Amino acid sequence: MRHDLSVRAVDARELMDDPDADIAMLERTYERFRLVNALVSRPGLLYRREIRPRARLGHIRILDVGAGGGDVCRMLAARLRRDGLSAEITALDADERAIGWATRHDGGSGVRYRCAFAEELLAEGEQYDVVYSNHVLHHLEPQELQGLLRDSVGLVGDRGVVVHRDIARSRAAYALYGAMTGVGASTVFRGSFIREDGLISIRRSYTTDELASVAPPGWSVRFGLPSRLELRWEPSSTS
Ligand SMILES: C[S@@+](CC[C@H](N)C(=O)[O-])C[C@H]1O[C@@H](n2cnc3c(N)ncnc32)[C@H](O)[C@@H]1O
Repeated sequence: MRHDLSVRAVDARELMDDPDADIAMLERTYERFRLVNALVSRPGLLYRREIRPRARLGHIRILDVGAGGGDVCRMLAARLRRDGLSAEITALDADERAIGWATRHDGGSGVRYRCAFAEELLAEGEQYDVVYSNHVLHHLEPQELQGLLRDSVGLVGDRGVVVHRDIARSRAAYALYGAMTGVGASTVFRGSFIREDGLISIRRSYTTDELASVAPPGWSVRFGLPSRLELRWEPSSTS
């Protein structure tokens, strides 16, 4: 079926968001996020641009909102350890199935896992140097998106940076992801929602202009390869 990618498919629902989703499929999806993120999300860039420079100045606090299986957090923890840098990393997710899986598969990384919304951390007075998310923005309804942006600014206060990273919707991204997961459909991605949900995610995702048009003042949107968006806020960008 050929989908119209000229507009966001806001009514399309990802299978992993279904509270009654098959648990074995869901857990296999969390497990395979690591491979997908290594292929498309470029977490090394997040580390080199935002985290390492700050951690070189001293101990920092990092928050991953919507951490899913927690693989990006664990990768960052490993890089920080390798570079002899000190940080506390919290993997936050609103879905207890994700936090349960991530906690059970942590392997001693030192990452803290928590099932909650960002606004709860804000209400508790938590502050971070880096707040980021990966593949979360497209899941959110308009009000939830505005709430997350407001909360993430509150969580870094005047000292940190917020970087929400997501897919950029395009026909090329859809075709590329379809081809990549088609090859692995009967092997590495078998028994998971990776292929189907990934394609729905691309249809739900924003283009650069769409994201810029819904972002409040002070936020900037950057496009990156292979088909990525980065919505960024830091105190100096508003002054
Ligand atoms: C596609 S997964 C991405 C997981 C992970 N960030 C990654 O890149 O592999 C989206 C995750 O965001 C979580 N999520 C959605 N809305 C959220 C919210 N408002 N607060 C926290 N987590 C949320 C979902 O439960 C899900 O685990």
